[in-house]
Amino acid sequence: MATAPALATARPHENYADLVRDDVVHRRVYTDPELFAVEMDRLFGRAWIYAAHESQFPNPFDYCTVPMGRQSIILTRDEHGEIHGLYNRCTHRGATLCAADRGHARKIVCPYHGWAFNQRGDLETVPLPAEYGSGFRKEDWSVRRAARVESYRGFVFVNLSEDGPSLVDYLGHMRSSIDNLVDRAPQGKLEVVPTVLKHSYRANWKMTFENLNDTLHASVAHSASVVASKRVTEEYGGPQNVNATMRMMLANGKNLSAFQETEMVTERYGHSYIGGHIGQGYTAGSTDAYTQALIDFHGAEKARDVLSVDRHLTLLYPSSTWHARYQCVRIVRPVAVDRTEVWGYVFKLPGAPPEVFANALEYCNGSTSGCSPVITDDLEIYERCLKGNGYGDQEWIPMSRGAGASLPPNGKPNRSPATSEIFIRNQFQAWAHFMGEPA
Ligand code: FES
Ligand SMILES: [Fe+2]
Repeated sequence: MATAPALATARPHENYADLVRDDVVHRRVYTDPELFAVEMDRLFGRAWIYAAHESQFPNPFDYCTVPMGRQSIILTRDEHGEIHGLYNRCTHRGATLCAADRGHARKIVCPYHGWAFNQRGDLETVPLPAEYGSGFRKEDWSVRRAARVESYRGFVFVNLSEDGPSLVDYLGHMRSSIDNLVDRAPQGKLEVVPTVLKHSYRANWKMTFENLNDTLHASVAHSASVVASKRVTEEYGGPQNVNATMRMMLANGKNLSAFQETEMVTERYGHSYIGGHIGQGYTAGSTDAYTQALIDFHGAEKARDVLSVDRHLTLLYPSSTWHARYQCVRIVRPVAVDRTEVWGYVFKLPGAPPEVFANALEYCNGSTSGCSPVITDDLEIYERCLKGNGYGDQEWIPMSRGAGASLPPNGKPNRSPATSEIFIRNQFQAWAHFMGEPA
């Protein structure tokens, strides 16, 4: 498939914040490869990026590798289980140190000339050390460490910059979505499923963030699956007899007035979530045995509070999407200005009945698999938008639905109808914040 032509390239002294206005954004943010390169440095190099769950590398000497903007980072555990973030680049000649997504190694040994590093990035041994001369000091050639690595309730985030807000400040009110995911575990912990569901598309990474909480598109772009799911549900005697994917497709066909009555919450730094609309009785918290397991762990009052949280997707800008009710987390990985990968992780809740995990798997398959009848609609739309924004004379793209609502001030979450485009304006406010000044 042809790539959309690049528009004007980034200019050295350009103020990129000028590409964002109150209710319009310049189309270059989706199509300009030079601008993409700046995004990788200024946005993905300064924001907190979700990297991995601790259960992906649970033991001392386990590791996993994660893309981080244009870098790749190795998350390691030292002999005490402490977590470190290392640039995945050998300090000798620059070779990538770890190619595997995850593994276990006492030493990180470069596959080129055998320099060996420990889990903190210290260079420990080199072959033929005397031949490097008397001035060679191993301590000068440690692997570079990520500036900040922090865990929030078992979820590891990385920030490549020393400056900026703490992780807790960055997440703000959106921490409550992560809390709800963890609190749904009857033994207080989650376990990641090793298999990752992936899809990719030929368009900009921002399309995913602008689409997932856009409730207006659900009944239009997904109309084929809405019609099919209604017919199947009738044949099977009602929504209680169909699976989570089918219920999601049914919910996409709700009247727009129902979405107008659904709440959207935006938080500074580009985050947002919308209220649940698939239906409380159909979700992962619905089995009696599961409810009892949560009561045993939390007590009745907290168990009721945990199960009463009904949110659809939470978007943690600019890296990930979260669904606590179905224990799914997706990572959005920019590859090029017109190429994006989405990786979906499902979590098991140890101690929960098997149907809870079956529900989560079913939902993640329906929402993240490349063969989902819903995702395929979205991917085609992303590519159509890329093509449309690659030529022609319309430079500015509106994002004004729900105009007049103010963006979240001073870290206080803001509430709007779920049909508003305020969450897109909120994302671009964060984008302009990070992109507006040189690193
Ligand atoms: S490039 Fe790593 S040891 Fe030479
Ligand atoms: Fe969609």
